[in-house]
Amino acid sequence: MFTADIPQILRIEKAVQVSPWTEETFRVCFHAGYLGWLIEVDKIIVGYVIVAYAADECHILNVCVDHAFQRQGLGEKLLEYVLNQATQRGTMVAWLEVRRSNSRAISFYQKMHFQQIGERKGYYPTVSGQEDALIFAKQLSGSNPLSAQTILG
Ligand SMILES: CC(C)(COP(=O)(O)OP(=O)(O)OC[C@H]1O[C@@H](n2cnc3c(N)ncnc32)[C@H](O)[C@@H]1OP(=O)(O)O)[C@@H](O)C(=O)NCCC(=O)NCCS
Repeated sequence: MFTADIPQILRIEKAVQVSPWTEETFRVCFHAGYLGWLIEVDKIIVGYVIVAYAADECHILNVCVDHAFQRQGLGEKLLEYVLNQATQRGTMVAWLEVRRSNSRAISFYQKMHFQQIGERKGYYPTVSGQEDALIFAKQLSGSNPLSAQTILG
């Protein structure tokens, strides 16, 4: 993913996400050195994933597939790619936050063998108030059992 991809990504982000990231958020990710990968079909971007590495952890910040291409295994391909990269880098654990109401993403992460290890009350703003974030993690290497304490210190 490069900054030149931001306009295409933003179109998908606005169409698909409940609370879409802004252009500024994507730009901040680039400046922060976070890594992103895309999936293209016929040279059109149809999905993307953005991750941040810190110490021996990989934080999955955003994963998104355009409506017309969902449920075709592309999200799984994106996440598998990221998890393989993370494993090759010696990363111990991958983790992420997801809205409690986002049942399709929760099913997706569960299929990818992520386990819920905690939650953050009222983490996400909504139109009517706040919503909890569920924290999911997947052990990639090492023998430490997963816990919210491991992830959040
Ligand atoms: C979550 C998301 C990335 C999944 O991408 P996808 O390409 O549609 O997912 P896949 O086709 O690879 O599906 C993999 C598995 O996820 C689960 N899944 C995906 N979509 C689902 C749905 N609508 N309902 C239930 N389970 C679903 C299933 O277990 C599926 O496996 P199966 O098809 O063998 O049953 C996509 O739905 C999306 O972009 N959602 C909006 C953005 C979002 O919520 N991102 C995550 C939070 S940042």
